[in-house]
Amino acid sequence: MKDIDTKIIKVDSLRPDIKLIREGAELIKGGKLIAFPTETVYGLGANGLDPKAVANIFIAKGRPQDNPLILHVNSIAQVEELVMDISEGSRKLMERFWPGPLTLLFKKNHKVPNIITAGLDTVAIRMPNHPVAFKLIEISGVPIAAPSANRSGRPSPTMANHVIEDLSGRIDMIIDGGPTGVGLESTVLDMTSEPPIILRPGGIILEDLHGLVPEIVEDLNTIQYDEDMIPKSPGQKYRHYAPKARLILFIGGVDSMVESISRYRDSYISEGKKVGIMATDETMDAYEENIVISMGSREDNRTIAHNLFNTIRTLDSKGVDIILCEGMEMAGMGTAIMNRLKRAATGNIIRVGE
Ligand code: TXA
Ligand code: MG
Repeated sequence: MKDIDTKIIKVDSLRPDIKLIREGAELIKGGKLIAFPTETVYGLGANGLDPKAVANIFIAKGRPQDNPLILHVNSIAQVEELVMDISEGSRKLMERFWPGPLTLLFKKNHKVPNIITAGLDTVAIRMPNHPVAFKLIEISGVPIAAPSANRSGRPSPTMANHVIEDLSGRIDMIIDGGPTGVGLESTVLDMTSEPPIILRPGGIILEDLHGLVPEIVEDLNTIQYDEDMIPKSPGQKYRHYAPKARLILFIGGVDSMVESISRYRDSYISEGKKVGIMATDETMDAYEENIVISMGSREDNRTIAHNLFNTIRTLDSKGVDIILCEGMEMAGMGTAIMNRLKRAATGNIIRVGE
């Protein structure tokens, strides 16, 4: 793939300059690729109704062809154009959580190109809650296909710099709207299955979904991440969120994690390895003068979610060989955080006592 000139434009994320968004929308309409901020992570967008443009997303990211994409819309009327039908449950969820970090699966109709769904008969759709993303869809006038704007397998980008790092020279434009809010991707919920099932925990937590649709269950793949489970969503089977360093995830009581991480650190350092630690406000000081980054307070796992991917990328940029990372409680956003960390660790998980 030969290098293309990637134009980078800065916009105010709350009140984006419409002239600049229009420039992005023109590129989308012309079949080009542009990265833009959403409330979850940066997306790499193309006209979702143009199979050639969508094919270029897979090339730019190095993404396996069998991993389907999410279509981003700015109205429920736009969903009606793309799907066979909308269940009552889905309608309630859209009315309550859109715009927002919830992706729903529907039975697709003929208007959705097969390349979007990787040949499946369901299509994933969401309405982003970010003025830049929202305006871009509105002005383009088409649903925008957008995976996270990282090279395949890397942590998702939460800042324009992350996108530049991964995709500069491979896409036409990057709209820099500053850091994203949630920091993790949307929750992917299959409302076409009986019972409805969460294929990827994310920005909208199970407890909130249960308020409207109590039947929703979690897919064990997304919580346990066992190597030999059968994936229900293509995205579950690929190496993901992986740092260049080897990430080891610790699970257990806070004091036991600190004790165990300190021992592993000493042992890796004595082997001549450079070690980075992903800690929390509560445990930070216990590790003394090492490369330690706090992701935030254990009392507030939304902040930890917000900082997660940037922490991994920052440690990579410091050139560490090993990342030792504290696990979180599986409550609220903790489920989504642990899903990403377990996958970033690809099996390097150490269970310590309570
Ligand atoms: O927050 C987000 O969802 C971000 C922003 C940019 O909107 N997008 C994002 O897209 O995370 P991506 O492509 O990185 O992840 C989409 C996930 C993948 O795990 C994919 O396998 C799954 O959604 N998915 C998409 N369509 C599907 C379908 N029809 N059936 C099952 N899983 C599907
Ligand atoms: Mg992704």
